[in-house]
Amino acid sequence: MKRVGGKSFLASALLGASLVQADPQSICATDNICFSIAVPTSSASSNSGNIYFQLKAPTTYSWVALGTGSQMAGSNIFVMYQDGKGNVTISPRLGTAHSQPQWDQSSTAARLTLLAGSGVADGTMTANVACANCESWNGGDMSLQGTSVPWISAWRTGSSLATTNKGASISQHGGSDHTGFNIDLTTATISSDSNPFLASRNTVDGNGSGSGSGSGSGSGSGGNGITLARGNPNAATILAAHGIIGALVMAVLYPLGSLLMPLLGRWWAHGAWQVITFCLMWAAFGLGVQSAKDRNMLFTQSHTILGTVVIALFGIQPALGYIHHRQYVQTQNRGPVSYVHIWLGRILMLLGIINGGLGLQLAQERSELVIAYSVVAGIIFLCYILAKAFTVLGAQRANRIRSHKEANIPSNRRPYQESRRHNGRYA
Ligand code: HEM
Ligand code: HEM
Ligand code: HEM
Ligand SMILES: *[C@@H]1O[C@H](CO)[C@@H](O)[C@H](O)[C@H]1NC(C)=O
Ligand SMILES: *[C@@H]1O[C@H](CO)[C@@H](O)[C@H](O)[C@H]1NC(C)=O
Repeated sequence: MKRVGGKSFLASALLGASLVQADPQSICATDNICFSIAVPTSSASSNSGNIYFQLKAPTTYSWVALGTGSQMAGSNIFVMYQDGKGNVTISPRLGTAHSQPQWDQSSTAARLTLLAGSGVADGTMTANVACANCESWNGGDMSLQGTSVPWISAWRTGSSLATTNKGASISQHGGSDHTGFNIDLTTATISSDSNPFLASRNTVDGNGSGSGSGSGSGSGSGGNGITLARGNPNAATILAAHGIIGALVMAVLYPLGSLLMPLLGRWWAHGAWQVITFCLMWAAFGLGVQSAKDRNMLFTQSHTILGTVVIALFGIQPALGYIHHRQYVQTQNRGPVSYVHIWLGRILMLLGIINGGLGLQLAQERSELVIAYSVVAGIIFLCYILAKAFTVLGAQRANRIRSHKEANIPSNRRPYQESRRHNGRYA
């Protein structure tokens, strides 16, 4: 019966529990907003014809939308809301720049048909939809055989719109109430060109098809035999941890660790501090990569790209610091490695701080938070520069006084432990 393994891509990656194979591809945008997509083999081979998709969400949402494309602008959007008569309305709309997508009434509009199984029951809205011409639209197209086809979705909590009007006005989704994902349509194929979301079909799986994670997804998935892939339920926590640790590392801990060097002049205090921070940085990186996977935005945004470059370059800092230290002990002078260590460190800290700001922007954080972050980062960086300036000036003065008096200061009184010439350099 199964032609292609129904690899629920997110679920199998995250839960590793995709025992039941289902033909339509399923994905959940949140714990309870789920979509399924199916392409009949006949449509796939001709790259035209019907495709089927399902939207399922609690009635606590005013509207829930699915779309083909990678962002609002230029995408083909299908909005579902209650019709006020126990069924749902499915409205084809064209995505424009960040504004309300309008009902597409043109001749090229998506030809959507609401199918059996649609309706409102037990607090859940379900739209089982056939689209006759979704391979292309005014603004884009998609291959029905594509192995990585971008889709988007968005949702809005609120009361029922209760209208059959496809042009009903919808209000904007929240700042993080949207998502994007890629689907391998070649694993979403179904043999017959008919509604795949009916209970009578796929009875093989019956009601026993719970995907193994157990926690609460049962409400929707029982009857139709489709395994619903669920989004990572920890996505928000992972992102928050990534943001907090990442920002702390770049804007607070690295600058403070750098401050320790001129302030204490103890290479091991600086080294140990920075190495601990270094470990935290890699933790933030791992969490960031997971967040990016959850949001399907790995290496597609300047934040993730710049962050990866910065973190990779930080990777050589401990080695540079150590090499500098070894050679300083021998030569009592900075070498090329020293300057690379010092200036790479400073530049990377700055880029890291900027990247934290880009992350906040990407996550559409409240402006107060962005301001608070900028202020804290600014103050700490300023402290670093000031402390640096004072110690350099102080060291230069100490140097002049010493060379004047030819004084022989006992080594334990010297400002910097390993330094012989106190000209602001230390190992
Ligand atoms: C009144 C209707 C809508 C308005 C005013 C609106 C406005 C916006 C704005 C201002 C943004 C950027 C900031 C943010 O992320 O919050 C955005 C992003 C987004 N919206 Fe909407 N939106 C509407 C409806 C929809 C619908 C129906 C979808 C359906 C899929 C959708 C999908 C998205 C997605 C995927 C993003 C992130 C990608 C991008 O920036 O385009 N939006 N929207
Ligand atoms: C210099 C290193 C980095 C710093 C300081 C940093 C910091 C941040 C911050 C502060 C946020 C906002 C979090 C929130 O609002 O809850 C964020 C978001 C994010 N970061 Fe990073 N990050 C860094 C590197 C990375 C890397 C290397 C990746 C992935 C490869 C990544 C992926 C993300 C993602 C996916 C988001 C969420 C964007 C969204 O919700 O739309 N970050 N980051
Ligand atoms: C990711 C880790 C590290 C970062 C980001 C970093 C960053 C920096 C920065 C920015 C400076 C310049 C401080 C100043 O303005 O005076 C510096 C100096 C220094 N670092 Fe590191 N460091 C790291 C790890 C290490 C390690 C592991 C060691 C030793 C084993 C080390 C040894 C030194 C020494 C001896 C100096 C003083 C150089 C001089 O002023 O001549 N660093 N580091
Ligand atoms: C909703 O409408 C579709 C299409 O007309 C129909 O097949 C389905 O049975 C309806 N659902 C309910 C609960 O009336
Ligand atoms: C599924 O349906 C069967 C028959 O209707 C029923 O006996 C069973 O308790 C249901 N639940 C599961 C998990 O099979």
